Amino acid sequence: MENHDIELTICMGSSCFSRGNKKTLQLIQDYLKETGRLQQVTFRGSHCFGQCEHGPMLRINDTQYNQVTEANVINILDQFFESR
Ligand code: FES
Repeated sequence: MENHDIELTICMGSSCFSRGNKKTLQLIQDYLKETGRLQQVTFRGSHCFGQCEHGPMLRINDTQYNQVTEANVINILDQFFESR
């Protein structure tokens, strides 16, 4: 397994943060830990992506996800990892 070959960036700009990414951040961290993927992923927060109207935003490698919520983030992660 390659180390840190996946870049996962969560928007920590004030709009996304206040609309859910504060909690989504924790869910992603828990997910990576529970699925043993911490070594595969570089997980970081970012300033505003400049697309607040589509937020809360999440980026995995070159793919941007809009309207990420506590309810759909695990599905997004599962689908991404299953497609690899
Ligand atoms: S705060 Fe996330 S896109 Fe602006």
